[in-house]
Amino acid sequence: MQAVVLEQHNGQTHAALQSVDPARLPPGNVTVDIDWSGLNYKDALAITGRGKIVRAFPMVPGIDFAGRVHHSEDPRFHVGQAVILTGWGVGEMHWGGMAEQARVTGDWLVPLPEGLDARRAMIIGTAGLTAMLCVMALQEGGVTPEAGPVLVSGASGGVGSTAVALLHALGYAVTAVSGRPQTYDYLRQLGASEILSRAELSAPGRPLEKQRWAGAVDTVGGQLLANVLAQSRYGGVVATCGLAGGADLPGSVMPFILRNVRLQGIDSVRAPAARRLSAWRQIIKILPHSFYKNVSSEIPLSDVILAASQLLANEIQGRTLVKVR
Ligand SMILES: NC(=O)c1ccc[n+]([C@@H]2O[C@H](COP(=O)([O-])OP(=O)(O)OC[C@H]3O[C@@H](n4cnc5c(N)ncnc54)[C@H](OP(=O)(O)O)[C@@H]3O)[C@@H](O)[C@H]2O)c1
Repeated sequence: MQAVVLEQHNGQTHAALQSVDPARLPPGNVTVDIDWSGLNYKDALAITGRGKIVRAFPMVPGIDFAGRVHHSEDPRFHVGQAVILTGWGVGEMHWGGMAEQARVTGDWLVPLPEGLDARRAMIIGTAGLTAMLCVMALQEGGVTPEAGPVLVSGASGGVGSTAVALLHALGYAVTAVSGRPQTYDYLRQLGASEILSRAELSAPGRPLEKQRWAGAVDTVGGQLLANVLAQSRYGGVVATCGLAGGADLPGSVMPFILRNVRLQGIDSVRAPAARRLSAWRQIIKILPHSFYKNVSSEIPLSDVILAASQLLANEIQGRTLVKVR
């Protein structure tokens, strides 16, 4: 099979497209023929070696994939069944989706939900699933469309684009934050009613600022997240899922203790199966058909290594779909 393989020599990560004997696939009770994968921020960190993502070499990256069951020793899955996988350390600790086959444990697989095909599932991918988990956190925190505007940072990335589209479709007034003026038209198409430049929200601010946001989905972290918290309305909810701008949080407790603001962490990797399925079903219902056309570009497996560098250089907008077969 063809696979992107990561190896480490003298502390440096080397990525190459290789022919690999499927007998080398790791243990697992279900083997999947992969049709589509997606390039995520975490994949880009793994492939370029810029983040400590990979726990054991050699590694096949790819934290998500969609395909058909090739062989199964798990009674829940039969040969030919369409399945998707996101998270569970696949592409980090266990060979992942940037290959023509993967062998995994059946517990990590989700049967392809009705109303979705494999390609669309990977346009959504880990990024879209995470965006939906963020939106669910806002809803569960009582943030309704009537409560006021909601903010999405890193808006032109995979998670951000999907969060903008989901929130708009649910009737929220969405303010998108982006560092790239060339993406503003795209963000308006997805449903953003207001756009702020990243720079406007990146300078150190005061512990409490004018109250603006009823809710927020933050993919960036760092000073921007601290500022969003300081600008949150009384009782606002901020769902934080990413660190594209930094892993620190240089803020104060003031928004929490004086404005009852809630900071909700979001993890998609180990989200329980029932919550994942609920998120997938909601995504299918909420996202308009136009989303799938507007948000994705498609590359073959052979272009993944180049695209990983482009993603980290902030040169990619929306989702990068990997056509494996
Ligand atoms: N918790 C989870 O389970 C989970 C799941 C998926 C992803 N994530 C995390 O969420 C984040 C976004 O993932 P993604 O797949 O959407 O990545 P992505 O497609 O690369 O999007 C990230 C976006 O962040 C903005 N950005 C990039 N560099 C920045 C910088 N230095 N400062 C501020 N903003 C910057 C850019 O948006 P603009 O150009 O529009 O500003 C970029 O498009 C990543 O940190 C990823 O690790 C977490």
